[in-house]
Amino acid sequence: MNPALSQLGTEMSRLSGVRAIMKDIIETLRAGAGQTFINLSAGNPVILPEVEQLWRDCTIELLASPEYGDVVCRYGASQGYQPLIDAIVQDFNQRYGLKLSDRNILITPGSQSLYFYAANAFGGYTASGELRKIVLPLSPDYTGYGGVTLTPEALIAYKPELEIDHDNHRFKYRPNFSQLQIDEHTGCVIFSRPCNPTGNVLSNDEVNKITSLAAIHDVPVLIDSAYAPPFPALNFTEMSPMFGGNVVHCMSLSKAGLPGERIGIAIGEPEIIHSLECFQTNLCIHSPRYGQAIAARAIQSGQLADISVNTIRPFYQRKIAIVEETLDRTMPRSLPWFLHRGEGAIFAWLWLEDLPITDWEFYQELKKVGVIVVPGSTFFPGLQEDWQHKQQCLRISLTGTDIELQTAMERLAQVAQQVYGS
Ligand SMILES: Cc1ncc(COP(=O)(O)O)c(C=O)c1O
Repeated sequence: MNPALSQLGTEMSRLSGVRAIMKDIIETLRAGAGQTFINLSAGNPVILPEVEQLWRDCTIELLASPEYGDVVCRYGASQGYQPLIDAIVQDFNQRYGLKLSDRNILITPGSQSLYFYAANAFGGYTASGELRKIVLPLSPDYTGYGGVTLTPEALIAYKPELEIDHDNHRFKYRPNFSQLQIDEHTGCVIFSRPCNPTGNVLSNDEVNKITSLAAIHDVPVLIDSAYAPPFPALNFTEMSPMFGGNVVHCMSLSKAGLPGERIGIAIGEPEIIHSLECFQTNLCIHSPRYGQAIAARAIQSGQLADISVNTIRPFYQRKIAIVEETLDRTMPRSLPWFLHRGEGAIFAWLWLEDLPITDWEFYQELKKVGVIVVPGSTFFPGLQEDWQHKQQCLRISLTGTDIELQTAMERLAQVAQQVYGS
């Protein structure tokens, strides 16, 4: 059977961004009979024994409690499972001195769905036919934003400024406020902090500037905090989460060890939360309740925040240190390579300036020496303009073992030398 697809059906059936690369990676791994690869493409977090144990313990507690039947055998409210909402309200009010009530919270099936709701509730065509943009203020950013809108022409990303430390082969992206346009034609703003793929953490000042620009036009700003404190706390530099006004603080429990359970959390003004909740009701009624019930326990007991700071963060902080140390030791100083400052998340982001081949070709060369990373050009959703930099970057997942990361970076240095040399 070959049913005709609508325009939207065709759009959504397309393998966008990193999904297309993942297909190539899966095929490479399948076809590579006998060849072993160091696969540093994963966005899936490592299963850390302490974290798995926490979720196991919460599950055992749930199974033994009278609450179990109510959790899995009944529908619930669209907004989310009340004990989880209560746990978040209490934790965030205490931790950050906020005055949240349950009207400020929405639980979604993963945070990806949250961006889908927001992109389409606030972005796209208005009733009067005006196009409201979904603005990504700092490109590159999370590849998943590329597929969230039903109106692809609404997505617009802005080229950053580059702060380069030539002596130490490091760099950092900064928003270019002279270019950034947030105005009456903006529907919403989205950015990740810490950022997937770069590990960048926008400063408080930068965030304040963006939210103030947006506030003038009543535009919601979704701060994608999938890697932020208090959980999973994958920030390696000091950062404070932002709340209030037009900010929607968006969290995910995926990197806190629960990607399979699909839990996203939005904290924002009741009017914004209500619009997102209505979208959710139409789409899926509510998020599954089993994951919410175990998350409520882990948050309420304080264990999730503790394990984030004491186990999850040190694990990845050590990995980025290995990547940095190995590249510093093995990459020729004469080559124009620049590693993005590792301020958070679970990736390293390498820029190879003036690379004689494309990032895709470099990815193919790396495969030949048994190393898989993700070509960087997939991480610029919404950035229309030609920019060579887009073809000069690689995303390296920090989910490898110490020895894998070290070996892979040594091989990468050799390939870089050959490629620039030729
Ligand atoms: C920055 C960022 N935002 C959102 C997501 C989606 O996460 P979730 O599993 O909560 O849908 C990811 C997943 O990798 C991510 O890296």
